[in-house]
Amino acid sequence: MKLKNDLILKAAKGENVERTPVWLMRQAGRILPEYRKIRNSLSGFKELVETPHLAAEVTIQPVDILQVDAAIIFSDILVIPESMGLKYEMIEKKGPFFPKTISNRNDINALNVSNVEDQLSYVFEAIKITKHELSGRVPLIGFAGAPWTILAYMVEGQGSKTFSKAKSFLYREPELAHLLLNKITEITIKYLKLQIKAGADLVQVFDSWAGILSPEYYEEFGFKYLEIICNSIKEVPKTIFSKGAFFALEKMNNLNCETIGLDWTMSIKNATQIFNNKTLQGNLDPCVLYGDYNTIEKKTKEMLHKFENYRHIANLGHGVYPDTDPEKVKCFIESVKSYK
Ligand code: CP3
Repeated sequence: MKLKNDLILKAAKGENVERTPVWLMRQAGRILPEYRKIRNSLSGFKELVETPHLAAEVTIQPVDILQVDAAIIFSDILVIPESMGLKYEMIEKKGPFFPKTISNRNDINALNVSNVEDQLSYVFEAIKITKHELSGRVPLIGFAGAPWTILAYMVEGQGSKTFSKAKSFLYREPELAHLLLNKITEITIKYLKLQIKAGADLVQVFDSWAGILSPEYYEEFGFKYLEIICNSIKEVPKTIFSKGAFFALEKMNNLNCETIGLDWTMSIKNATQIFNNKTLQGNLDPCVLYGDYNTIEKKTKEMLHKFENYRHIANLGHGVYPDTDPEKVKCFIESVKSYK
């Protein structure tokens, strides 16, 4: 099906666009009352993720309500550890929890990377339904967590400010860490390819915990696996978002991907000087959306001005915070669309 709005794909490939495209990380869910209504009628987050027609419905909500230039499939990065054998629970107001975690070689050997197609069939089904229902209105983004971020949850077992259990695993058991990272990388490549086969028009890899590693450790345990993923996926444009990894931007210029996500701590001026063959995505501080309408418009336009004459996809510097007023989100989107 031909896309009616392919601004994001064009921007990702560095082609001319009549205006900067815009979407928000974590746009599906949480902030929308329409999402919460569906979510509250179910047993929990996982039921929504695992019910394809409902996942498709909440994927499309922000396209209808917020008028963004892309949909992102409603799922979670944690479906990958689950498909390998580590079930997760999503605890209300707390976040993810893994009853079983990885601590030794036996745990890693017991992981299964062979049948992601069956294990995660609900994701591929949701993508197919979404593509059908979008009928070409906007592109659909598929996604996965980066190997380091997935390892962090598999070892730590839950969210953490420091992820010191996961980080200490790298220092104590570097060989096992690489064994695990290789397994995660292998399954992630399969998973992304299957999302593309089901209909994803581009893919984004979230390395949410990139910024807690030292530059040396990020290169060895993070970046290296992003390179393998980027070199393996040739079908659609790829976006790499390594949150907090300002120290790795120079290296990222050489990644085999089209787009690099920037968080709000990264200087746009600095980034536009470093990258010479990439599209940049981001990077408004999500907290700007707690400001009044004038502030949101002003800060959004200042950001666009800094990206002027550079390949850009407008977004926040991280996911939109759950208590953000959807009207403020609309103001951000309108400010991008009306620029110049
Ligand atoms: O972007 C989207 O709108 C698509 C859906 C999406 C979700 N999670 C749905 C979700 C995406 C792309 C993710 C990615 C994700 N999940 C990341 C990487 C992006 C980032 O924010 O850094 C991470 C680290 C996770 C793991 C995760 N999932 C955590 C830590 C939590 C709890 C805290 C939180 O963010 O809410 C989740 C739960 C989750 N994933 C929710 C949603 C809509 C909230 C669950 C609910 O409905 O109560």
